[in-house]
Amino acid sequence: MDCLVCHDTTGKYKKPGPDAGMPAKDIDLKFIAQNVGHSSRASCGSCHFNGGGGDAVKHADLSRQLLEPSRNCDVHMGGYDFTCAECHETRNHKIAGRSSSVPVAEGEVTCQQCHSKDPHYCGSVLDHHLNKHAKTLDCNVCHAPVYAKCKPTKTWWDWSKAGDKKRKPKKDKYGKPDYNKKKGEFKWDESVVPTYAWDSGFMKRVLMGDKVDLNADVINITEPVGSMNDPGSKIVPFKIMKAVQAIDADHDYVLVPHLWPRDKDDTTAYWKNFDWEKAFQDGMKAVGLDYSGSYKWKETWMYWRLDHEVMPKEMALSCVQCHDSLAGDKTCNRCHQDNREVDFKRVAHKGTDFSYMKSQGRDVDELINKTDYIDFKALGYKGDPIIHGGRFKKLPMGYQKQ
Ligand code: HEC
Ligand code: HEC
Ligand code: HEC
Ligand code: HEC
Ligand code: HEC
Ligand code: HEC
Ligand code: HEC
Repeated sequence: MDCLVCHDTTGKYKKPGPDAGMPAKDIDLKFIAQNVGHSSRASCGSCHFNGGGGDAVKHADLSRQLLEPSRNCDVHMGGYDFTCAECHETRNHKIAGRSSSVPVAEGEVTCQQCHSKDPHYCGSVLDHHLNKHAKTLDCNVCHAPVYAKCKPTKTWWDWSKAGDKKRKPKKDKYGKPDYNKKKGEFKWDESVVPTYAWDSGFMKRVLMGDKVDLNADVINITEPVGSMNDPGSKIVPFKIMKAVQAIDADHDYVLVPHLWPRDKDDTTAYWKNFDWEKAFQDGMKAVGLDYSGSYKWKETWMYWRLDHEVMPKEMALSCVQCHDSLAGDKTCNRCHQDNREVDFKRVAHKGTDFSYMKSQGRDVDELINKTDYIDFKALGYKGDPIIHGGRFKKLPMGYQKQ
């Protein structure tokens, strides 16, 4: 990468799509070079907000919304005006932070590096339990309970539907198009409950040329590796990017099409000629892999970890939103003696205020009054851990039978 893309402060530096990283020809490079400065949300975001070829397409939690976010959208970058590099600290231009797809690992960034591993210490009666939960739950399970909360993200991208001259794009309820002749069919979603999975920090992923299972219903391009029985694994929130992509039917690997036309005379680019056969032949030649001449469309999933969009502290998920067992009359007093100084019911019932979010226009209707925010059974529990016990122990009390 060149220096200006990160150190430009004028907002005038541009790299147009088809030019493979070269700066635009009509910009004033001298003026830009005379005004370099620190990196910013705008300079890092000029690439990262557009992962997947447009704003908010693949990263649910990185979009142009973060240029000037409200406190509710992202408490660090909105509430406290953090730059990206304040968390993604650099040393000799090594930018810390591991991606969830193909990390090059120039160091990790964690919430704990600033907040410690026992981050709740303000004397609240919930602190003890919250810190204990942080051993099993990733911080963002509670602190970023929905993703794409201020701007819709693409959640479905079906390439097999591309090329239909007759199909007219329709706008969905967010005003987003459901179709693009070049790219196929889309779905967009806003304020979505993440998919939760056990994650040890390692990812399994399919690289170019790796064999995939053509008989599987879904091919995971990336997926977290982790287990309930591994003390090093935690429950982590993900956006799943679902798509339909072409797989070579004989070689069993994902095909790379040639999309962008090289010039006016290009005869193989899909976005000019709308012929998959030619686009695969040319694309696979460019990456140095054989194309057998026959392909199949298959559904693929990619797990994108959710690291940003932390909500203000009073909007974190709390007890009743996960534990249905605390939603009735008995709350903390299932296990603790009633205490005249603390209103158990009130503290157990606070948490993310979805009614407020709805009043701000967010699409969270069905989350109001939810008491089973994470699906305990899908994660391997017998049910609510308050009744059935946590992953390593059961509390030695008689309340289970109630
Ligand atoms: C991927 C983004 C990126 C690229 C590309 C990049 N830098 Fe940086 N650079 C940073 C970040 C992040 C810092 C830490 C301070 C900040 O945020 O500006 C930094 C710091 C610096 C500093 C120290 C500034 C200070 O006050 O301590 C200098 C000098 C610098 N870069 C020069 C360059 C030069 C010259 C190039 C091209 C050869 C370059 N950078 C390319 C991101 C980048
Ligand atoms: C409050 C701290 C914080 C701020 C501010 C922040 N990030 Fe991050 N980011 C993280 C953490 C934590 C991770 C996870 C990194 C890891 O596991 O090593 C992460 C991960 C990432 C990843 C990898 C994501 C993936 O799963 O592929 C990218 C890319 C990224 N951040 C870009 C940015 C950009 C661009 C900005 C500014 C617009 C930014 N971050 C601001 C904390 C932050
Ligand atoms: C010119 C485009 C561009 C700019 C500007 C840029 N990045 Fe990146 N960044 C990339 C690409 C491409 C990758 C690799 C993506 C992948 O592996 O899927 C990447 C990867 C990352 C990762 C994940 C590293 C890993 O382990 O894979 C982080 C974190 C990140 N960038 C943060 C930043 C920050 C912070 C800035 C601003 C200082 C920045 N980037 C500026 C293009 C850019
Ligand atoms: C089980 C859900 C849950 C988990 C997991 C969790 N938090 Fe919290 N966090 C909360 C709630 C709820 C509050 C509000 C506390 C209150 O109202 O007393 C909070 C408050 C905070 C605060 C504000 C300080 C305070 O004590 O009021 C910070 C900072 C914080 N959390 C950081 C983190 C970090 C970092 C992690 C991961 C290491 C984490 N939290 C894990 C639910 C959680
Ligand atoms: C580079 C340091 C840094 C990193 C990394 C970081 N934070 Fe923070 N965070 C801060 C600072 C500074 C504040 C504001 C002062 C405070 O409340 O401690 C803050 C505030 C918060 C708050 C309280 C916000 C409020 O005022 O309501 C929460 C909750 C929180 N962070 C959670 C997280 C989570 C979750 C992560 C990881 C995704 C994270 N932080 C990563 C430095 C960081
Ligand atoms: C995001 C969902 C979530 C939230 C919010 C949450 N919990 Fe939990 N809770 C869990 C999970 C998952 C476990 C199991 C942890 C384990 O396996 O060790 C658990 C376990 C427990 C246990 C222990 C059961 C045992 O046998 O060790 C208690 C007690 C508990 N939670 C109380 C609370 C209280 C009190 C609050 C509010 C401060 C709360 N929980 C908020 C998900 C949640
Ligand atoms: C399922 C049983 C259970 C429920 C429900 C429960 N707790 Fe606890 N709590 C425990 C146990 C057991 C401990 C002792 C330490 C441990 O094993 O975590 C404890 C410890 C505590 C402590 C620390 C006491 C100390 O001496 O340090 C506080 C404070 C606390 N709980 C408050 C609450 C509040 C407030 C609620 C309701 C929002 C609640 N608990 C719900 C079982 C429970």
